[in-house]
Amino acid sequence: MQKALLEVQNLTKIFPGIRALDDVHLSIRSGEVHALIGENGAGKSTLVKILTGVYFPTSGVIELEGKPISFKNAIEAQEAGIVAIHQEASMFPELSVTENIYMGHHIRNEKTRKLDWKAMTEHTRVLLSQMKLDINPDTLVKNLSVAQRHMVEISKALSLDARLVIMDEPTSALTGREVEDLFRIVRELRDSGKAILFISHKFAEIFEICDYFTVLRDGQYIGEGEVRKSSEDDIIQMMIGRSVDQMYPEHTTHTGEKILEVRGLSQLGAFKDISFDLHRGEILGLFGLVGAGRTEVVRTIFGIDKADGGSMSIEGKPYNPRNPQDAMRRGIALVPEDRQKQGLVLQMSLTHNISLPMLTKLCWKGLVTKGKSEKTYVEKQGNEMEIKAAGYHVDAETLSGGNQQKVVLAKWIGTDPKILILDEPTKGIDVATKAAVHEFVCEMASRGVAVILISSELPEVIGMADRVMVMHEGIQTGFIDRKDLSAELVMRYAIKEVKEVTHA
Ligand SMILES: Nc1ncnc2c1ncn2[C@@H]1O[C@H](COP(=O)(O)OP(=O)(O)OP(=O)(O)O)[C@@H](O)[C@H]1O
Ligand SMILES: [Mg+2]
Repeated sequence: MQKALLEVQNLTKIFPGIRALDDVHLSIRSGEVHALIGENGAGKSTLVKILTGVYFPTSGVIELEGKPISFKNAIEAQEAGIVAIHQEASMFPELSVTENIYMGHHIRNEKTRKLDWKAMTEHTRVLLSQMKLDINPDTLVKNLSVAQRHMVEISKALSLDARLVIMDEPTSALTGREVEDLFRIVRELRDSGKAILFISHKFAEIFEICDYFTVLRDGQYIGEGEVRKSSEDDIIQMMIGRSVDQMYPEHTTHTGEKILEVRGLSQLGAFKDISFDLHRGEILGLFGLVGAGRTEVVRTIFGIDKADGGSMSIEGKPYNPRNPQDAMRRGIALVPEDRQKQGLVLQMSLTHNISLPMLTKLCWKGLVTKGKSEKTYVEKQGNEMEIKAAGYHVDAETLSGGNQQKVVLAKWIGTDPKILILDEPTKGIDVATKAAVHEFVCEMASRGVAVILISSELPEVIGMADRVMVMHEGIQTGFIDRKDLSAELVMRYAIKEVKEVTHA
């Protein structure tokens, strides 16, 4: 067997109150795409951060081509040929694409030693075109979409000519087409002899792109193997120690009376003439490709953005929210897509994050009835979502990516809404928790809550929704009832192949 490029032995990392990595082993060869698999909080991102010099290990050995290495910072790791695209975006929004890509490894003019911006811009242009990205290198990163930022980060990794490229959930913000482009590039990297460490919660991706895998559970090494000799079930067993029923929960809809009516809702440049009814106990799927305007529609319903046309009513009374507080007062809760930015206060404890929207209910004469009711409430919500953390007093920042998502779900679901809007609720969540979230959403619906579910995962929409509204570039292109639902029909509306537009 080929010798390993990177060999990790007995690696341990202890954070206050938590053993994030416990005697971990990992061996990656050149020319291989290696999947790192494990539940939320298993230790994957921590391992990545140690390999790239962000964290220092508590103990253990890391060898690159047989030589022990130890990095004090990310630049040293870069120089040794290890680069990562981290789970959280790590770019500078106020700088241009070129400046971000060449941060830390500027090109200088050979004679004058001055920064050669012309060369860097030109190289950036080439990198972007390799990725089939239509972005001007001078664009400020803050003006890019989430997906574009991700692709730029990947371009940056490519510009560094690394030997080991690590991708921590790189596809979570990408559309189908962009994922294809990414996979094409991953294959090119592998064929040119580089090693790729690939982290994903999506089994379809692991089976499509990865050759080999290593599984972690609770910070411990569980096992490794060849992807093509393993089944999804084998890997899930290793991940969580049992199999998981990935079937969508059976739920019989008892669609009640109309609760929300939307008529001709429009917002310049985002969406136009959106009309639908939403009933108690119903799960309305909202499908579309990235850029279809789904998030913009629900932001307007939740009072974050203002509509400039159309009308809404809740329970027959006019509804014209000026801000999210208005929406919450009328019984709406929204779990946003960009949870890191919009859903959490990272430097606040889990307790405070979860109880935030409930403060008025937990207050008595203006004071939070400290301790008991808040604590009981938070623990109930947290346990329901199986949040894994050292305790509820720790800052949200210290949680793994998937566990941060669970905190946001716990926070909004606890508000006991009449209308629950979920924007990509299972993105970045492991298989077991995903099944739990699906079950929970169905339970809410059977209690009479009206649910709007945005998802880019076709199986999720088809498995969960009673009715699906499909959008394409800001326009509603179709409504499909559960009995007529098929992946093919949804996709045809999403790419607008179907001419006639139906209304609810
Ligand atoms: N800076 C930190 N301080 C304290 N604890 C931390 C810190 N970073 C991570 N942890 C803890 O270490 C454990 C492993 O987290 P890690 O982010 O590596 O998980 P992960 O496998 O990447 O999960 P996910 O799939 O959710 O992204 C978690 O329990 C997390 O709370
Ligand atoms: Mg992670």
